[in-house]
Amino acid sequence: MNKAQLYMGLMSGTSADGIDLALVDFATNTPKLIASYYQAYNQDIHQKITSLYNPDINELDRAFKLDAELAHLFAQTIKQFLQQQQLQPSNIIAIGNHGQTIRHRPNQPHAFTLQIGCCQTLACLTNIKVIGQFRQKDMALGGQGAPLVPAFHQMVFNDNDDDVFVVNIGGIANISYLPSLNAIKQGKTLIGYDCGTGNALMDDWFVLNKAEHHSTKHYDENGYWAASGQAELKLLTLLLNDKYFSLPAPKSTGREYFNPTWLQQHLANPSIKTLNLSPADIQATLLKFTAITIANEIKSLSNSAKVYLCGGGVHNKTLKNELNQQLTNYEVCLTNHKDIDSDSVEAMAFAWLAYAYNKKIFSNSPAVTGASKKTTLGCAFYP
Ligand SMILES: Nc1ncnc2c1ncn2[C@@H]1O[C@H](COP(=O)(O)OP(=O)(O)OP(=O)(O)O)[C@@H](O)[C@H]1O
Ligand SMILES: [Mg+2]
Repeated sequence: MNKAQLYMGLMSGTSADGIDLALVDFATNTPKLIASYYQAYNQDIHQKITSLYNPDINELDRAFKLDAELAHLFAQTIKQFLQQQQLQPSNIIAIGNHGQTIRHRPNQPHAFTLQIGCCQTLACLTNIKVIGQFRQKDMALGGQGAPLVPAFHQMVFNDNDDDVFVVNIGGIANISYLPSLNAIKQGKTLIGYDCGTGNALMDDWFVLNKAEHHSTKHYDENGYWAASGQAELKLLTLLLNDKYFSLPAPKSTGREYFNPTWLQQHLANPSIKTLNLSPADIQATLLKFTAITIANEIKSLSNSAKVYLCGGGVHNKTLKNELNQQLTNYEVCLTNHKDIDSDSVEAMAFAWLAYAYNKKIFSNSPAVTGASKKTTLGCAFYP
């Protein structure tokens, strides 16, 4: 038997809900998820992160203080995970640290993307080599710097006989299209992009309307509140008309675009204001909007495919039902059907990016991001 080659992937997504860790063994050709771990953020950290999504006062101090604070939180979580797994830091070859995105502006003359959760601090605190800053080089090469996961999806979910989609429903939703051999013969290639908002707007609207549902959660559990309302066609059409959805790929987006201000601007439209929609109707509309934006992208790329879902949105039963209804001709299931826990796919991908860095494997996909060449992503930070 090959000796284990253990890497750890660390993801803190745009929902700012918590830290996802994946322990992955790369001893064979197929990456094997050994264990995963989740540490939720408390309200204070959640608020500190989300308050940095848009320009505001004293950003620099707040951002870089949080850069260090998150590294400490990441390190604590890693120590607990190692203890649970009865492992030592020396058992882990490297940690792939995505960090926490607080700003992503790929479509401007001086494009940039900013992930915090200091890799150097993390390496010193854990005594493990950290690979991080994965998005920078792709962006320096003219790419979107996102999504970075399609290359990993292709390795794990590809199926020669069928077209495959992997849909990650996080704060923002992204899809990877893995064409079948037949489709490749017809000129189709690997594609991946952010298809729009995932849970983000539903989370925002849920928290803004606490008085309506009395839940202390930051998300609409199972979409029950959305299910108590009725989706409204006029509002749905207005949201779907947003210019992001007609942009060609490569494209990526973030919380600096799909945020409460974006939603309020649409709700303030005179044609919507006169409808006097209830907050639950608006939540129902946002849920349908999320499902349709995902389904539209899939339908535009293939008319028969397997669709693997992952990310926190798969726990929203109402959203999953709506997606099934929108995709009746497709085989829709969770990534768990391929033995990969749907909550661990993203973190696993960052373990792979760390592995790819160590092995000098090209890890970006120019066809996905628009970068001018293939390259190995990331920088190394040593204890
Ligand atoms: N039981 C549930 N019911 C409804 N929604 C849920 C449930 N569990 C999780 N979620 C949603 O999933 C979100 C977290 O998902 P996830 O961690 O995949 O997103 P993320 O951190 O933004 O990651 P990404 O980097 O992919 O954007 C929560 O904010 C919530 O909206
Ligand atoms: Mg998350």
